[in-house]
Amino acid sequence: MERMLSDRRVLVTGGAGFIGSNLIESLLDAGNQVVCLDNFSTGKRENLKDFANNPHFNLIEGDIRNYGDCEKAVKNIEIVFHQAALGSVPRSIKDPVSSTDVNIGGFVKMLFAAKEANVKRFIYAASSSTYGDHPDLPKVEENIGSPLSPYAITKYVDELFASNFAKTYGIEVIGLRYFNVFGRRQDPDGAYAAVIPKFVKMLMKHEVPLINGDGAISRDFTYIDNVIQVNHLAAVIHNNKALNQVYNVAHGERTTLNELFYFLRELAGKFDKNILTIEPVYGPARVGDIPHSLASIEKAKNLLGYSPELNVKEGLEEAVKWFWNNL
Ligand SMILES: NC(=O)c1ccc[n+]([C@@H]2O[C@H](COP(=O)([O-])OP(=O)(O)OC[C@H]3O[C@@H](n4cnc5c(N)ncnc54)[C@H](O)[C@@H]3O)[C@@H](O)[C@H]2O)c1
Repeated sequence: MERMLSDRRVLVTGGAGFIGSNLIESLLDAGNQVVCLDNFSTGKRENLKDFANNPHFNLIEGDIRNYGDCEKAVKNIEIVFHQAALGSVPRSIKDPVSSTDVNIGGFVKMLFAAKEANVKRFIYAASSSTYGDHPDLPKVEENIGSPLSPYAITKYVDELFASNFAKTYGIEVIGLRYFNVFGRRQDPDGAYAAVIPKFVKMLMKHEVPLINGDGAISRDFTYIDNVIQVNHLAAVIHNNKALNQVYNVAHGERTTLNELFYFLRELAGKFDKNILTIEPVYGPARVGDIPHSLASIEKAKNLLGYSPELNVKEGLEEAVKWFWNNL
């Protein structure tokens, strides 16, 4: 069975970001023509440097909130990988207006422009935050609760629009509910940095990481290569049953924040043994966070042929190595 997309003209929105830039790299390596649309609001030019001069790569600097930019980006495109969004639960609580404008307004503009340009398939980044307050573990795609943040609302609304567009206009859609993705090129800086790159950078500088809450909350941390694999599978799948669906994208393994901290300390300690004595400090729990998150990945395994390669520890080893050499 075909597992990688090749020889197609594709668009990656948000391609200057963490996930988008890794996806572009793999799509170029597999022989696709790749257009990237990004406004560099959270993405970086540096993330594009390895392929910026590749003749099969074309950057459009523009904004998904601008319909003209969306139209320009989807011209002659067969498959869209829509990654552009304002991530982060705390960001959306501080500024729900911007998160909504980009994550819903921009999403619908991209989706409509894609449909108008006869794009065949629209694969988009959904989110595990959509499970909200639903208590069941592991999370299965059909059972979601009430969203706990504006970010979670935006990502769920996107799923509703995508499903509606598939029914109304016949465009093929696939939503990928990413669970706490980590790996190379993830931004360690800023108020809304994700926990893994942020802690690694702090440990490297002998700073003391702050854990929000008592460290018992858990996440299904997912290595970037597993996310790339699913995007390719979603692009090549022919089975009609697999289309117009949402899928959990995770490893199916739960790690508490305390466990994560000590894994990271051990791994970074291989490069500098002084790190091994650093202990975290604890602060108040964050509003809007899901307490526990663990995915069932059966649906992606069964319908897309997903088989995650690196587990959380193996992925963390790769990520820490990368951060050590690149930060
Ligand atoms: N990283 C995770 O753990 C995770 C988990 C669940 C879902 N997601 C989703 O995956 C996608 C990618 O996340 P990421 O971690 O790579 O984030 P990121 O911030 O690194 O990348 C997002 C990219 O989108 C671009 N962008 C933002 N607003 C834009 C706009 N108005 N017009 C054009 N480009 C715009 C940014 O400049 C950036 O390059 C997002 O949709 C995010 O919500 C990520």
